[in-house]
Amino acid sequence: MKVVHTIEELRDHLRGQNRVAFVPTMGNLHEGHLALMRTARQHGDPVVASIFVNRLQFGPNEDFDKYPRTLADDIAKLETARDVYVLFAPDERELYPEPQTFRVQPPGDLGDILEGHYRPGFFQGVSTVVLKLFSCVQPRVAVFGKKDYQQLMVVRAMCRQFQLPVDILAHETVRAQDGLALSSRNVYLSDTDRQEAPTLYAQLKQIQKAVHDGAVETAALESRAIDTLTANGWQVDYIAIRRQRDLLVPTEAEVAAREPLVVLAAAKLGATRLIDNLEI
Ligand code: PAJ
Repeated sequence: MKVVHTIEELRDHLRGQNRVAFVPTMGNLHEGHLALMRTARQHGDPVVASIFVNRLQFGPNEDFDKYPRTLADDIAKLETARDVYVLFAPDERELYPEPQTFRVQPPGDLGDILEGHYRPGFFQGVSTVVLKLFSCVQPRVAVFGKKDYQQLMVVRAMCRQFQLPVDILAHETVRAQDGLALSSRNVYLSDTDRQEAPTLYAQLKQIQKAVHDGAVETAALESRAIDTLTANGWQVDYIAIRRQRDLLVPTEAEVAAREPLVVLAAAKLGATRLIDNLEI
């Protein structure tokens, strides 16, 4: 695997390639990331991964400074897995040599709800860096995880509206044995919080089952899950049953008619904020 830190070196390695498959990450790689890279390999060649902790997508009170940076370990994992041909790991001066005053602004009905409501500017930061990374790597396909469901939808919408020649592939969420979605932020959990953490997914499963069994009052299902989590020590930002196609609230008639839905959740255990979701 070639590890490159500059756009110029990246371009040198990719000259003449028109089937590049790309997996952008912020590093601290786990099995979820590696699964994306395996999928990338099935859909293009060569596979390029990036590691860049993107300041633009962190709010002033978020964990940018303490986000786990583990480049040497990440490189070792990628070398072992052997799916990635080039790892692009720029520093901030390389990707943001001047203040990034041009920004990609997602539409409010997609970018300002749910995660965007609790993390103002988050999807603007994500869209801006993804567009920049796409312009550096020029991939034919890029793989994103459903773990970050709304992010996947924002990236897809951006590609569609800017008519970028990139196909976006979605990968299922990779979970630990007990159901907890793998996340770089799981390393922040204390031992007791790690034991409690799978309750979030368990609540999503319960909601999924209730809807499958015919429940149509989504607000009641959401409140029950919020109450259970709160009683278990969580601080819940949202549990939201939404339509898959646009993340809007479904009517009872739509739920009854089996509209494809997704239940999305964000909640904090101690200082650690976890997100998860499940399609219904
Ligand atoms: P990061 O959180 O490192 O995630 C990189 C990619 O891995 C994303 O597409 C994310 O959805 C996927 N991923 C993370 N955990 C996963 C899991 N358990 N199962 C499946 N896929 C998983 O998402 C970002 O970085 C950034 O916002 C980025 C897109 C790189 C822009 O900065």
